[in-house]
Amino acid sequence: MLLRRAVRRLNRYLRPDVTLLLGDLLDDGGGNGARNLLCEAPGGPFRQKVPGTISPRAALAAIVDEIESPTIVIPGNHDGDADRFYEDFPRPALTLDVAGVRFVSFVDPEEPGWNARRTRRDLDRLREARRGHDGPLVCVQHVPLLPPGRSDCEFNLTNAEEVIEVCRAAGVTLTIAGHYHPGTPLVREGDMAFVAAPGLCERPFPFCIIDLEEGRASLERHELALPAGLGLFDFHTHTEFAYCSADMEMSRAVSLAREFGLAGMAFTEHSGQLLFDGETYWSGAFLPDGIDHPKGVRDRTDDYLARAGDFAEHRTACGLEADCDFKGRPVIRPQDRDRVQLLLGAVHRLPELMRPRPDPAKTAAEFMSLAERFVRSGIGVLAHPFRVFSRAGMEAPREAFAPMVRLLKDAGVAAEVNFHDQNGPQADFIRMCVDEGVKLAFGSDAHSLSEVGEFAPHLGLLEEIGAGPEALARPEDLVRGWPW
Ligand SMILES: [Fe+2]
Ligand SMILES: [Fe+2]
Ligand SMILES: [Fe+2]
Repeated sequence: MLLRRAVRRLNRYLRPDVTLLLGDLLDDGGGNGARNLLCEAPGGPFRQKVPGTISPRAALAAIVDEIESPTIVIPGNHDGDADRFYEDFPRPALTLDVAGVRFVSFVDPEEPGWNARRTRRDLDRLREARRGHDGPLVCVQHVPLLPPGRSDCEFNLTNAEEVIEVCRAAGVTLTIAGHYHPGTPLVREGDMAFVAAPGLCERPFPFCIIDLEEGRASLERHELALPAGLGLFDFHTHTEFAYCSADMEMSRAVSLAREFGLAGMAFTEHSGQLLFDGETYWSGAFLPDGIDHPKGVRDRTDDYLARAGDFAEHRTACGLEADCDFKGRPVIRPQDRDRVQLLLGAVHRLPELMRPRPDPAKTAAEFMSLAERFVRSGIGVLAHPFRVFSRAGMEAPREAFAPMVRLLKDAGVAAEVNFHDQNGPQADFIRMCVDEGVKLAFGSDAHSLSEVGEFAPHLGLLEEIGAGPEALARPEDLVRGWPW
């Protein structure tokens, strides 16, 4: 799940030119477990990719395969035999040129004390690596190569001084390694820099982004866990009850929320999906009449509320994401209003958008007229406020931003910050909300476990608009009975 989350962040937000995985991908890659131990049974996190049972290493390789940038994967001392390792992972070319940078990979044999040594053959290869390339040269290996005495890391190549000499002669800009879980800062010596990247496996699950600008390396640390002390709450997650769930499971979502440092989370299942069968929901046939729609009823609301209630002592709130019907009413049974602690409201469709060629001006007018009623209907958060436009391939109507902010403010409804779609919210609109004192609610809109509490882009947006944590709604503002 860690790796999936890292891959998602890389692919969606960070978009590196190349991704390096520097070994120790498994704890016991040499033992029988790595090949023979059966991974989580069907129903586990890999069920969509690989039906049946697969080895943990193959399961990891399947996730690594989802990385959109070129990747270089190097085995570490925990990964067992390199040839066996490369039966599952792609073996990197000895040199790889990406974005004007040449990467030279090494699998150095292990030495006592969890050190390693660069072989004569690999030193020769390093001497040759400069040939035909005048851009930056980067060495990639598992055990760190560091100038002796320049770092707290107790591991090194046993012939480090000689290797550094050869690196210098070849004009190496940077060497990057793994192995040492705390990681090192960039150690600079002359024109060369040395670094051990931190281990993703330990909280707060760090990794680093290295920039090479004009041959000079700089390093930025990222963490998968949320920044401590902000007390962030995820106001929008889906569950195994969603027709559109990838792999959500309430029990696992709760433990991941804790692992990544969320102060709490709300389950907010689609009300329309709980009330109607898949065909009726996806066709939108229920929207003209909302809860009064007589056909395709398949009510699972009671089951959902009972199941969500089971997790109450785990700092979770039981909520709903109510669809807005075509009269501007939330699709929620009257008896359920008092049973949920949080009601998100979402405009997912509009009558005009059901037409073959919807007109943007009519769509905007219809949206605002439904919103007038919907925002005042008792919802606590307006989910993904203008997303209905981007989903329809239209620009959000900027002239509607100010009236929407007024409406939210009057009704005391929070505006959700939701990046579930690639584009995310309109920064101008969010800034206007903050300026007018409309509270912001962070929602992951998780449909897969790797998304729960993923607020890296949310926090980035807050920084971009110059807003602080005081702009955020607290759970006690929005969740009925919180904390109980
Ligand atoms: Fe290692
Ligand atoms: Fe939604
Ligand atoms: Fe949602």
